Amino acid sequence: MSYQNRQWYYVKRPEGRVSDEHYELRDSELDARLSANEVIIRARLISVDPYIRIQQAERNTYDVPHPLGIVQRAGVVGEVVASASALFKVGDAVAAYSGWQLYAKCHHSELTLLDPAQAPVSSALGVLGMPGRTAWFGLMEAGRPRPGDTLVVSGAAGAVGSLVAQFGKRAGCRVIGIAGGAAKCAFLTETLGLDGAVDYRAHPTLDGLRAAIEAATGGVDIYFDNVGGMITDAVIPLIKLRARIIICGAIAQYDGGLDAPELAPRFLQHMLFKRASIQGILARDYTHRMDEMIKTVAPWVRRGEIVSQETYVDGFEQLPAALNSLFEGKNLGKLLVRI
Ligand SMILES: NC(=O)c1ccc[n+]([C@@H]2O[C@H](COP(=O)([O-])OP(=O)(O)OC[C@H]3O[C@@H](n4cnc5c(N)ncnc54)[C@H](OP(=O)(O)O)[C@@H]3O)[C@@H](O)[C@H]2O)c1
Repeated sequence: MSYQNRQWYYVKRPEGRVSDEHYELRDSELDARLSANEVIIRARLISVDPYIRIQQAERNTYDVPHPLGIVQRAGVVGEVVASASALFKVGDAVAAYSGWQLYAKCHHSELTLLDPAQAPVSSALGVLGMPGRTAWFGLMEAGRPRPGDTLVVSGAAGAVGSLVAQFGKRAGCRVIGIAGGAAKCAFLTETLGLDGAVDYRAHPTLDGLRAAIEAATGGVDIYFDNVGGMITDAVIPLIKLRARIIICGAIAQYDGGLDAPELAPRFLQHMLFKRASIQGILARDYTHRMDEMIKTVAPWVRRGEIVSQETYVDGFEQLPAALNSLFEGKNLGKLLVRI
């Protein structure tokens, strides 16, 4: 017996935006025979994340480049369809890092069992997964929020940003989100209950954007940066004494800019003036503390106290286009491809 598999192979490094030429859709048969402790899963939800674009860079980043000629790596929520493991049975929902493929044969040590009664299984790729871990430890450990601090979050309507903003509110901060477009800004203030929102698209010049952020904040104690580029240039001169700047991402630089970045960083003299600190944070540095984050955050999710917004794109064939759409801001919250 075999399974009719479909896989997206990563075959060519993009210089700018990802397109069809960088991926190949291949059909194959997956042999259904299992060795001891092996499990076959069928993907139900596949994650598309900005780091996928970082790892397409030709040179080392925080990781070696994603190899060409293999299935695109990614987080997946799947369903067990065959099992030779005592730990998993057919029908179980699992999280895996099995990539852009319909079926995958995994050793059971590569799988995490999900309990749909505890939280929606999709949360394993969002609020109770890598984005949640990034937001939680990035804000709490690097940001060191105190009640009354003004926290500014760029990319605030996205997967990580929307969680940082809510964790900041729970820590007693005054939270201002920066996002693209009036609808996303309304989501930030009306749905997430933030204290203010700035639509960076409505302010195309650096001076105009800075004035808008200044008017909304009056100064910044913590800047959680998901975007980089002009937004960060606009925020840095607004930092207050002993501000904390967390560099989580620089998505404005990923599609092409990583290899030919803009001249930056600028305005770092303000770090001196305000004796501020700047720290990069990486999700994987906190992987071993996942249980700690889940213990704190899962009860909030269960009680409906955290908005874990998700955007779904339907169809396995849509994966490369969905990845691209992150750079066009089409998602609200976590972007997932539903199979
Ligand atoms: N350090 C880590 O371990 C770690 C882990 C996860 C994610 N990250 C980083 O965190 C950031 C957010 O990731 P995510 O998964 O939560 O993605 P996301 O925010 O859900 O999606 C990306 C969003 O970025 C915004 N964007 C795209 N291009 C932009 C540009 N040129 N200028 C301004 N905004 C732009 C878009 O929102 P708008 O419509 O508002 O423009 C888009 O919706 C990324 O930089 C990612 O690399 C880092």
